[in-house]
Amino acid sequence: MRVAVFGAGYVGLVTGACFAELGHDVVVRDILEEKIDALRRGEVPIHEEGLDELLERNGARLRFTTDVDESVEGAEVVYVAVGTPPTYSGDADLSAVWTVVDELPRADRRIVVAMKSTVPVGTGRTVRRRLDERGLENVGYVSNPEFTAEGTAVRDFMHPDRLVIGAFDPADAEVVERLHAGIDAPVIRCDVASAEMIKLAANAALVTRISFINEIANVCEATGADVITVAEGIGLDRRIGPAFLRAGIGFGGSCFPKDSLALKQLAANSGYSFQLLNAVIEVNELQKRRVIGKLERRLGSLRGKKVALLGLAFKPGTDDMREAPSLVLAGRLQAEGAEVSAWDPVADGSVLLDGVRIAGSALEALDGADAAILVTEWPELRELDWAEAGARMRKRVLIDGRNMLDPAEMRGYGFDYEGIGRAAE
Ligand SMILES: NC(=O)c1ccc[n+]([C@@H]2O[C@H](COP(=O)([O-])OP(=O)(O)OC[C@H]3O[C@@H](n4cnc5c(N)ncnc54)[C@H](O)[C@@H]3O)[C@@H](O)[C@H]2O)c1
Repeated sequence: MRVAVFGAGYVGLVTGACFAELGHDVVVRDILEEKIDALRRGEVPIHEEGLDELLERNGARLRFTTDVDESVEGAEVVYVAVGTPPTYSGDADLSAVWTVVDELPRADRRIVVAMKSTVPVGTGRTVRRRLDERGLENVGYVSNPEFTAEGTAVRDFMHPDRLVIGAFDPADAEVVERLHAGIDAPVIRCDVASAEMIKLAANAALVTRISFINEIANVCEATGADVITVAEGIGLDRRIGPAFLRAGIGFGGSCFPKDSLALKQLAANSGYSFQLLNAVIEVNELQKRRVIGKLERRLGSLRGKKVALLGLAFKPGTDDMREAPSLVLAGRLQAEGAEVSAWDPVADGSVLLDGVRIAGSALEALDGADAAILVTEWPELRELDWAEAGARMRKRVLIDGRNMLDPAEMRGYGFDYEGIGRAAE
């Protein structure tokens, strides 16, 4: 089939590459000329495992353009994968979505618009109305939300837990389902509003689990229990399951914070206070800040102290720093007067972090540091020469924000080590 994908970001590129891998002809359209030029030269603008190979292998079935008509020409399905960032009010900013809807050219055949961007419930109905107002009755609309996680997006796309296809017209859902031939997954066919809600509810469920285990971790710290053992003990209960029970310094990224806020505001706009979600968001904000207290208990005032952030991306396997805990940590440390250095194997910290010394290696970031915070659980950090790391630091204070390292081993290297939700000594 011929597919157009609007948006060459984290979702659009993976979507385009994977549909090409499934044998479809794909044209990816973005408004950023530099991005399209780079893609045409074979340069991939993001770090996502397996994406480079997939784009290269399917080069013959993939084109990149800034031109709307060129992308939609002959396409049976037009995917919308543009950004929907939060506005000041916390609602999703749908301006890029509306631009796409208004840019769609007339066609003398049926085209299905498939929404992959995460949008508030009710968006599909409004898009449908707008298409009708434009006289585009022969353009169908389907909500086909995306559940891939950055770092494993290619694998998640090719082996999803489920496909969700919400449509006004069953024939349009049929077209989108056919496009996924070759992917083995249960298909949820439903109305558009329910498909939109499935996406938001799935993310709300995941962040609720994260904030839940982080609160359990905080109570563990106060009472002497160990959250890793506790998570294992509850995760083996089949009614609970083990996923998303890793305590840490809070969730970030381009989806969880914005989508939980958007759902909270969606409810609020209808006069409903989503109290549980309010608490989940608040817990997450506090979780990122608790690390500062751990440092102050060891170093006293942070004024003039040197603190190294190990990892900047919101999670390993991606260069994405949107809403990353590292941003809050850097800001809080600087506000307390600390000097901050940082290292990440792929994320470019210089774009978002002002006044932070970006180091070329983890060891370099640790030079002369009074404390280190492990922010992102990059495998490189497990392999780091921690004896050398300790030797380079002025004081061996190590806060493991992801419970990645072995406490006994780190204490063996002379570190004053503390994880999250674990006995301090
Ligand atoms: N990042 C993820 O892992 C993920 C997972 C699930 C869902 N989502 C959702 O998918 C959507 C896209 O997320 P992303 O992370 O890929 O965003 P992104 O910011 O990486 O990419 C969006 C791209 O859309 C382009 N764009 C803007 N207006 C356009 C237009 N009119 N025509 C064509 N391109 C246009 C931008 O230039 C940008 O390159 C969001 O709604 C997000 O919530 C993201």
